[in-house]
Amino acid sequence: MAKELKLLFSRKEIAETVARLAREISADYAGKRLVLVGVLKGAFVFLADLVRELTIPAAIEFVRIASYGAKKESCGKIQIKKDVEITLEGKDVLIVEDIVDTGLSLKFLIEHLRAHHPASLRLCALVDKKARREVEVQVDYTGFAMADGFIVGYGIDFNERYRALPEIFVVD
Ligand code: IMP
Ligand code: MG
Repeated sequence: MAKELKLLFSRKEIAETVARLAREISADYAGKRLVLVGVLKGAFVFLADLVRELTIPAAIEFVRIASYGAKKESCGKIQIKKDVEITLEGKDVLIVEDIVDTGLSLKFLIEHLRAHHPASLRLCALVDKKARREVEVQVDYTGFAMADGFIVGYGIDFNERYRALPEIFVVD
């Protein structure tokens, strides 16, 4: 069934936000051993744009975490489907995520990556839905804050649809 999409963040707003994040990250990680850990699949477009705006070198890793069911909300049972392929010990790790919602999957991932004993571990999220948090997660770099609503586009899907849209929309 066709869903109604309402524009939330335009190409221009997204580009400006990604550039701002990249400036902050480039300044904070100058001279460090930065590893960006992108969370598949939703963060792939954001990560691709972000990395091209950085003015410092960064290694790229990916993880895939799954919460059970193809539902709009994660249900709390979380699993690593694909792990990083290098050791993160002594590295400065920055998780790059599309959305932090309840915080459950990020809390799980942070604990998982912390076991590598990275020199530092921070989180960059394109969209922070702070009001929906169920567990505390610190977002160190936030693109956009939003209250509620389900979004798609710019890598973010609803049952695998809409990822290729260049802007971010709210699904009605
Ligand atoms: P959390 O564990 O509840 O914080 O869920 C975060 C993950 O749920 C995100 O990385 C997305 O994959 C998914 N998610 C949460 N909100 C949305 C949304 O509005 N659109 C699409 N996916 C979402
Ligand atoms: Mg995600």
